[in-house]
Amino acid sequence: MSPGWLSVAAGPPLRGEAILPGDKSISHRALILAAVADGTTAIQGLSPAVDVAHTLDCLRALGVPVAQAADGGLKVEGRGPRGLAGEPVVLDCGDSGTTMRLLAGLLAGQDRAFRLEAHASLAGRPMERVVGPLVAMGARIEATAGRPPIEGRGGGLLGAEHALVQASAQVGSAVLLAALNAVGPTSVAYPAPVRDHTERMLAAMGAPLRWDGRVSRLQGPVATLLPPADGRLTVPGDLSGAAFLLAAAALVPGSDIVMRGVGLNPGRTGILDILEAMGAPVTIGGWRVVGGEPVGDLRVQHPGTGLRAASVGGELVPRAIDELPLLAVLATQAQGLTRLRDAAELRVKETDRLAVMAEALGRMGADIRQRPDGWDIQGPTPLQGARLDGRGDHRVVMALTVAGLVAAGTTVIDGAERVDDSFPGFAAALRGLGARVSVAEGPEGLADAVPEPEVL
Ligand code: S3P
Repeated sequence: MSPGWLSVAAGPPLRGEAILPGDKSISHRALILAAVADGTTAIQGLSPAVDVAHTLDCLRALGVPVAQAADGGLKVEGRGPRGLAGEPVVLDCGDSGTTMRLLAGLLAGQDRAFRLEAHASLAGRPMERVVGPLVAMGARIEATAGRPPIEGRGGGLLGAEHALVQASAQVGSAVLLAALNAVGPTSVAYPAPVRDHTERMLAAMGAPLRWDGRVSRLQGPVATLLPPADGRLTVPGDLSGAAFLLAAAALVPGSDIVMRGVGLNPGRTGILDILEAMGAPVTIGGWRVVGGEPVGDLRVQHPGTGLRAASVGGELVPRAIDELPLLAVLATQAQGLTRLRDAAELRVKETDRLAVMAEALGRMGADIRQRPDGWDIQGPTPLQGARLDGRGDHRVVMALTVAGLVAAGTTVIDGAERVDDSFPGFAAALRGLGARVSVAEGPEGLADAVPEPEVL
């Protein structure tokens, strides 16, 4: 999509059922692990996100055959755990941190020279956290000044013990992917539990892996890997996308929405704990296992009474890391002082999300103060529609759209196209539930689509 604006105004209750894209985190892993399996994997429900398309393009550039299947899925012909060796290659990771960090780990173990390049927002993000552990295993790679690009040559790895500083699934996953081709045992100790999609998928592929939520251990090198899910992998719906709709329904009076087949990995469900603590519990039915992941059907109703403030910190933070911009929005409408702590990681996401959300919600009239590692937010405060800059950050654009649903007047957010990085169809999903949201591709379209907003 070309550059655009999202315009949103308060409207009727949100009602009905929303269809979600496939989970982005699981989609990256499904592609990468299918690429190093011995055999073919048919993947259903892959996320259509731009970030995932970057991973797919990188794998194709590495020589992995990928084809559209007749049933609408994708067929990935795995090359085996060491099968990505070859000529030097330059790969474009776009603005996808998961693509760059996971591929750094994967390629550290392959006999090949490579360079992983980044677009503007990824170019400023820290890579030492992944390069350091890989170098400790013998990788000959580097990231100048700790930022992208990451370049070097894979191969010659030895297993190692890692105690991660950040509770980062991306870093842990990168190390495990490298460990597939390292000689000897590798362990990753996380300071707090994180999403364990990589561990689940690798174990189901027959890798000699044990994990307990704190420490993951893999015995390398791994000679052979079965295709994930016996070669027929279905990706669950994306809880991180669902979260925006859940929060919207918790905020707009009279709302009652359902989403089916949503991934509920325990390392991801912090937003459900937050919504419950704030007085908007999500009902989960139809528990089942899809693609080795717990999945359920979610329903949330507007609580009728107002939301309550919450205190969020510690181990809840990594379990809600991508949903914390929504905590800020919810807190502006909650009774009392909401505190977020231990969340300095938000400063090194696609943007400094602590600063960007505080500034934008402040413009809308929220009482929000930044702390080095979080926010203090006093609520409830009426929000005023405004013209806002999404700073090219998909989750900021979507969180501000949710804020616009409870603001007076119209809110216009620059950067609508970035929503496609994780949730193509976000505006349509909200509209399908009854929300007054529109997307304009240029200033002319904007003039037609919405009344002139107040420029702050
Ligand atoms: C992700 C892990 C998280 C998350 C990101 C996706 C993953 O990042 O914020 O959006 O798929 O592993 P960190 O590992 O840096 O916390």
